[in-house]
Amino acid sequence: MQETTRQWHLAERPQGEPDASCFELAESDVPEPAPGELLVRVNYLSVDPYMRGRMNAGESYAEPWGVGDVLNGGVVGEVVDSASERFSEGELVTGEGNWADYTLLDADDVAPVDPAVADQPAYLGALGMPGRTAYFGLLEVGTPKPGETVVVSGAAGAVGSVVGQIAALNGCRVVGFAGSEEKTEWLTGELGYDAAINYETTDDYGAALATAAPGGVDVYFDNVGGPITDAVFRELNLDARVAVCGQIAHYNDETMPTGPRKLPQLIVPRATVRGLLVSDFVTRFGEANEQLAAWVDAGDLVHRETVVDGLERAPDAFLGLFAGDNIGKQVVKVADAA
Ligand SMILES: NC(=O)c1ccc[n+]([C@@H]2O[C@H](COP(=O)([O-])OP(=O)(O)OC[C@H]3O[C@@H](n4cnc5c(N)ncnc54)[C@H](OP(=O)(O)O)[C@@H]3O)[C@@H](O)[C@H]2O)c1
Repeated sequence: MQETTRQWHLAERPQGEPDASCFELAESDVPEPAPGELLVRVNYLSVDPYMRGRMNAGESYAEPWGVGDVLNGGVVGEVVDSASERFSEGELVTGEGNWADYTLLDADDVAPVDPAVADQPAYLGALGMPGRTAYFGLLEVGTPKPGETVVVSGAAGAVGSVVGQIAALNGCRVVGFAGSEEKTEWLTGELGYDAAINYETTDDYGAALATAAPGGVDVYFDNVGGPITDAVFRELNLDARVAVCGQIAHYNDETMPTGPRKLPQLIVPRATVRGLLVSDFVTRFGEANEQLAAWVDAGDLVHRETVVDGLERAPDAFLGLFAGDNIGKQVVKVADAA
């Protein structure tokens, strides 16, 4: 095992859109695990849109990173030194660790990774936090019923790709918005979406939605916000539910955009709009993990990861989320893991 580890730090806070200058790669000694801790060689790390909020000084739905802090998030890796009876060296685990070659994890906060169920990166996507967000967000907030129409924005991403498939498994008509032809073809081909709209090549989202969802929209799972959401609000049916999961179209905004207000469009449909945070369901994560793994095992849930190779490219992978570079879950391969 090497004696030093590279790790990414927040070099400065972004103004608007972040760029490479916000990140700094530095080297330090590989730490020793204290009692109850595991030293893990990171094989894959997760980059996620919510991390944009952590780069700001103000509150978002996760704690802000301090300037100079080591960046952290979901990781999958191998235990190389254990100071806990719960896990032994050589075991694969997932938890919240550093953007680094090696990281310490608290043994009480990690879960085992079973490569027989799925490859390691899936534990950061469909079998990880994004999968659980899709599961609880759709079923508990969206509450879809068979025969209803579910519309998903950011449909080809980590959360969206799982939402649409769960909606289809529940007997719904599913329509997705995504940003390329390759993505929309994946949605209607492999994932079983009934229709998909490429918002990058569509001028009139409302007209496209009226064709794709002729019976209107009963559930809208919103990952994105912006003009896509404006268009969906105009098509909401009576008693529609809107699950507000993310607003990535606005994460780099310095000020909240103003304009014609959309709330009147909620009056006639008596729509319910509810924010969701996956952490609210923490006591039920076991249920979601079990069901998601069972769907994957049965071939009912397709998962896909976009892998950027090399810890040194982690910021590129993160910035790529805002350009739509990923299909399915964006991960970074750090070590040459099997
Ligand atoms: N509330 C929670 O507990 C929770 C938990 C997890 C995630 N989230 C939120 O859920 C959303 C999806 O997260 P994820 O991890 O699954 O990310 P993701 O969808 O895998 O990646 C982000 C995607 O957003 C799309 N996008 C970027 N900028 C956009 C814009 N201006 N307009 C429309 N689409 C844009 C891109 O796809 P296109 O090519 O289609 O543009 C990109 O691939 C994010 O907003 C995230 O913050 C919330």
